[in-house]
This record gives sequence, structure tokens and C-alpha cells, in this order.
Amino acid sequence: MKEITVIGAGYVGLVTGACFADLGNRVRCVDINEAKIESLKRGKVPFFEPGLEEIVRRNQKAGRIFFTTAYAEAMKDAQFVFIAVNTPQGEEGEADLSYVEAAAREIARHLDHSLIIVNKSTVPIGTGDFVADIVRENMPDPSIPFWVVSNPEFLREGSAVYDFMNPDRIVLGSTDKEAAEKVAELYYPLQAPIIITDLRTAEMIKYASNAFLATKISFINEIANICEALGADVKVVAEGMGMDHRIGHEFLGAGLGWGGSCFPKDVKALAYMAATHGCHPQLLRAVIEINQDQRRRIVDKVRELLGGSLRNKVVGILGLAFKPNTDDMREAPSIEIIHMLQHEGARIKAYDPAAMENAKAILNGVEFMEDPYQVAEGADALVLVTEWNEFKQLDMERIRDSMRQPVIFDGRNIYDPEWMQKLGFTYRGVGRGFDGAGVINRNRPDRG
Ligand SMILES: NC(=O)c1ccc[n+]([C@@H]2O[C@H](COP(=O)([O-])OP(=O)(O)OC[C@H]3O[C@@H](n4cnc5c(N)ncnc54)[C@H](O)[C@@H]3O)[C@@H](O)[C@H]2O)c1
Repeated sequence: MKEITVIGAGYVGLVTGACFADLGNRVRCVDINEAKIESLKRGKVPFFEPGLEEIVRRNQKAGRIFFTTAYAEAMKDAQFVFIAVNTPQGEEGEADLSYVEAAAREIARHLDHSLIIVNKSTVPIGTGDFVADIVRENMPDPSIPFWVVSNPEFLREGSAVYDFMNPDRIVLGSTDKEAAEKVAELYYPLQAPIIITDLRTAEMIKYASNAFLATKISFINEIANICEALGADVKVVAEGMGMDHRIGHEFLGAGLGWGGSCFPKDVKALAYMAATHGCHPQLLRAVIEINQDQRRRIVDKVRELLGGSLRNKVVGILGLAFKPNTDDMREAPSIEIIHMLQHEGARIKAYDPAAMENAKAILNGVEFMEDPYQVAEGADALVLVTEWNEFKQLDMERIRDSMRQPVIFDGRNIYDPEWMQKLGFTYRGVGRGFDGAGVINRNRPDRG
């Protein structure tokens, strides 16, 4: 059993804290957000993440996890302090390190025994040294030893607990191999491969991984647009590509592009770092541009199919969260798509199984409905933005009959175009070679 402190009780911090507690350690989570801590003290996780609340409650009951807003209390016996605060996008695309800096100052102020500081936030290359400098400059007793280890996190919202407990790899970077090995011990129960390297390389592994995944999605979206022009079906193309083990199936789903709390800011931060260090990140810039275009294209398609104007047209949006199984609206494609549709005069009705409350705080002038059927009622077009499971087997006849015009834009390619056409819908997917090109051979029907 180790004494672990986690700074920041968000998606990453709370999952890290809860999972380490579940592995038998004693964990203290500290956050500056009082409402969040109050809620956690009552055993209530203030955001949607499947399975997390159960683990928090179980470990609270067992006396292995505590929540506080007081650093003094949180750091009292800590052997390891994990920084898991947010690193949002700054004004120029750079990562905003002010929260990391504030956390490092607080660690320094309360540093009265030796410990290992582990950075789990996604931070620009060189931040490990930056944190060490801040702590060194602000600690009351400079003779107390401390070590900084970079330990980037790769979990995905929606399956965060599973991902934490079943990682593909653990990456650790430090100037001190022994410190990195001590952090590695915390992960031994997970039986995952562990890479120990220097601070900067560890920080770079995280950015390079996210940038690569975003590139894969932008790549298939570019291919989708070419498929559309040439009459091929990108879904089958991706399937055929993915069977090649050098390529793999994952992150080859053409759609409305990537969003969320990580890819947009991380790709931009990497491009910014590259540009400010004399590099020319042309691939990363293209990856970002393709992603933005993807959202514009769907609005162009809706306008075109609704007769060239969106004025006073009712557009129903299915799904608002940036991906299924989360209520996270950060950089969700739905936001930009809705803004563009509204800008052209469309009336928007929307529904999401989990993100409605968060969406209400961000989106003005949207009618939020209680289910997909209410969204379809009287709509001129439906746009499926987030591929929640509950949208996969809707009563499509009911939807068709309640719409003003049976027009559906499947932004995630979850429906079978042939089936949709048979039902009498005007159907458009992403890159499905369907706009006049006819149906492509498909040996695995994707009907829900
Ligand atoms: N969300 C993901 O899927 C994910 C995955 C991998 C890595 N990351 C990275 O992990 C980091 C955290 O992301 P997140 O999604 O968990 O963010 P989040 O916004 O959900 O949580 C961050 C928490 O830190 C708290 N905080 C901010 N400053 C603080 C301070 N000085 N002291 C104590 N608490 C403070 C905030 O109140 C908030 O509760 C980011 O760098 C992110 O890029 C996120």
C-alpha cells in the first residue's frame, strides 16, 4: 500500500485516484473546485463516466479514497503526488500551463518530506523541467529531495476505468531512473509493458500518439470525400484497409471528424511547439484543416438537399457529446455544426442521452427534446452527429412518418444506405459513394 495524492479530480485525476485506491493504495484527491469535492464526498461523481461512481463508493467505504480542497491535508503523508489538472488550449494554440504551474506552486508550499511528483496531465515537451524549477524555487526547505516523473495518460472517456486498468503500455520519463522505477511499481498489478525513458521523450510520446490517431481519422475523412466524388463506399474501403494488420481497423471510421477534450488542443499544441522551434508542421496543419472542413461539408450537404437555403428549415440533431458514452461537450463537432446551421437561419431541435445539461450551458436557441422521436417531429432533416447505441435501432418508420421531409444525414455512417432508401428516406452518409453512384457491393450488411 502506497500513499498517493492526486491533484485534479477530473476525468483523468478521479479515474487515476479511484483505480489506484481499488488496487489497495490510500489515495487523497485534491481539487480547487469546491462543488466537485462536495459531490465526491457524498459519493457522487459529478460527470458521466461508466463504472466510475461504483469504484469511488467502494473505496470510500473501505477508507482508501478521500476528497479535499486543502493541499495541506492532501499532501500530509504522500509518497507520490500525481498532477492531473487541465491543460486547455491557449490563445495561439499553445497549451495553457497555468493550472499545472499553480499545482506545482502548491506542491512546493506543502513540501515537508521527500516525494515523487508524477505529471499525468498532457503537457508540452519540457514541462517536467518547468515543474521541477517551480518546485525548487518555491519550496520552504530546499534540502528536501524530490523527483519529477512524466507519466502521460492514454485513457479514453467513456471507457476510462477499463482503459486505466488495461493499458497497452505505461510510459514513464524521468532524469532519475530510480524514481521512474518506483512509479512503475504502482502499475505492476496491471501487468502492462512499461517504457522508461527521459522526461522529454515521455512527454513527446503522448503528443505523437494523439497526433497520429487524429491523423488517421483525418486521413480516412479525406479518403471519404474522394470516395464520394468517385462513387466508392468508404466504409467498405476502411474495412478492406483495416484487415491489413499494418494498418488496423481502429480510428478508420469516416465521419464528422475528431473533437473532445484532447485531440483538438493536443494537435494544435504540437503544431505550435513545432512552429515555434523552427519546424514546419505541414502534415499536422492539414490534419486540422481536414477536420474543420468535415463539419462544413455536412452543412453544405444539408443546404443542398433542402433546396439551397436553410432559412426557417427545422434541423434535428441526434447526439451532442463529442463521442458516445460521455457527457463531455468540449470541442464537440455538434457545437460548430449547430452554430453554422443557425447562422444560415435553421431552427434546431436536439437530443443527447447524457450531454443535455452540459449542452444547455453552451448552446443558445436550441430546442432540447426528450428523445429522438420528438427531435424528428416536423423536422426537414435529421443529422446524426454522435453514434450513441440507442440511435442504432430506432423505429425508422415512425421517424419517417413524423418528419416534414424524410431526409437523414448520417454523420457517423451507422445506418445501411440501402435499408434507408427502401424505407423512403433521402439518405446521405459520409463518403458512401451514394450521391448518385449507387450501392456498392457489401458482404456484411450494417443494418442495425
Ligand atoms: N479527458 C481525457 O480523456 C484525457 C485523456 C488523457 C489525458 N488527458 C489529459 O489529462 C489532463 C486532465 O484532463 P481532464 O479531462 O481530466 O481535465 P478536467 O478538466 O476534467 O479535470 C481537471 C481538474 O483539475 C482541477 N484543477 C485545476 N487546477 C487545479 C489546481 N491548481 N489544484 C487542484 N485542482 C485543480 C479542476 O478543477 C478539474 O476538476 C489534461 O492535461 C488532459 O489533456 C485527458
